[in-house]
Amino acid sequence: MTAETAPFDPLLLRRAFGNFPTGVTVVTAAPEAGPAGMTVGSFFSVSLDPPLVGLCADKGSGSWAAMAPANAFAVNFLCADQTDLSNRFASKAEDKFDGLDWHPAPTGSPLLPDVIGWVDCVTEQTVDSGDHWIIIGRVTAIEILREADPLVFFRGGYGSFAPVDPSRH
Ligand SMILES: Cc1cc2nc3c(=O)[nH]c(=O)nc-3n(C[C@H](O)[C@H](O)[C@H](O)COP(=O)(O)O)c2cc1C
Repeated sequence: MTAETAPFDPLLLRRAFGNFPTGVTVVTAAPEAGPAGMTVGSFFSVSLDPPLVGLCADKGSGSWAAMAPANAFAVNFLCADQTDLSNRFASKAEDKFDGLDWHPAPTGSPLLPDVIGWVDCVTEQTVDSGDHWIIIGRVTAIEILREADPLVFFRGGYGSFAPVDPSRH
C-alpha cells in the first residue's frame, strides 16, 4: 500500500479515522427548552486534577446546538447491549427520550438507564476547531453502576471488548 498525502479524499479520511476504535457514550443536557442528547464517540479524558473531560461536536449538529445553552452536560457510558440506545441518540428523532426511564444528574442533565456509569459536568471551555467544537467539561459528579462490557464502535460497526489476557482482566 502507498501512503497518501494531503489533500485527502474525504472518504479515505473517514475510513482512516474509522480504524481507530472508540467507546460509545450518550451526552445529554437539560437546557430550558427541554432534555436533549446525542451519541458521542469522541469523548476523552483530559485531566485528573482538576477533573476535566472533553468531546467533539459537529458544528452542524442540531442536538449540540440545543444542548450548548445548558452550559452543563452528562456523559453516559454505554454497555455492549445498548446499541438501540446508541442508534436512538444518533437519530434525528423528534423526542429521543420518549418512553425512556431517565433521571436527572445534579446538573439536571438526563442519566440513562442501565449504563456502565456516568460523569456530570459543567462546561469549562468551547474551542473552535475545524468543522467541530471541542468542548471541555469539569466533572462535578460521578457514578459507576455496572461491571458490564462496553459498547465499542470500529470501522462503522458496533462491537465490544475482549481482553488479550483474560487472567488480567
Ligand atoms: C457511534 C457514534 C458516534 C458518534 N460520535 C459523534 C461525535 O463524537 N460527535 C458528533 O458531533 N456526532 C457524533 N455522532 C453523530 C451524532 O450522534 C448524530 O449525528 C446526531 O446526534 C444527530 O444529528 P443532530 O445532532 O443534527 O440531530 C456519532 C454517531 C454514532 C452512531
